[in-house]
Amino acid sequence: MPDMTKSKKPASINFDQKLSLFTDHWSPKVIAEMNDYQFKIVKIKGDFVWHDHADTDETFIVLEGILRIDFRDGAVTLKEGEMYVVPKGVEHKPYAENEVKMLLIEPKGVLNTGHEGGDRTAVNDVWI
Ligand code: NI
Repeated sequence: MPDMTKSKKPASINFDQKLSLFTDHWSPKVIAEMNDYQFKIVKIKGDFVWHDHADTDETFIVLEGILRIDFRDGAVTLKEGEMYVVPKGVEHKPYAENEVKMLLIEPKGVLNTGHEGGDRTAVNDVWI
């Protein structure tokens, strides 16, 4: 038996409850970790910047709304209940005509803009 005496009481993590805690766009918030990976929720609206992640794939899971991810050779459209894994090194640009709420899964330390920098780069490792 694991020693539970120092553990916190188990509690579920509710996406809607976590999403109700913020309103800003393009600013991912960490809600959980699994080994070296983080689960981040984010709200987006409008256009992002072209970027890639040289060292890792990036998973998008749409919780609400319609997300389009543009690639240099096409696009994929995801609605609530759908997901897509962007392979590492592939340039992509998320776009949301109306607000989209989604869950991202990626390793700790990955910046939202890859190595592009600029004013759209969000502060990393913000928990909510
Ligand atoms: Ni990305």
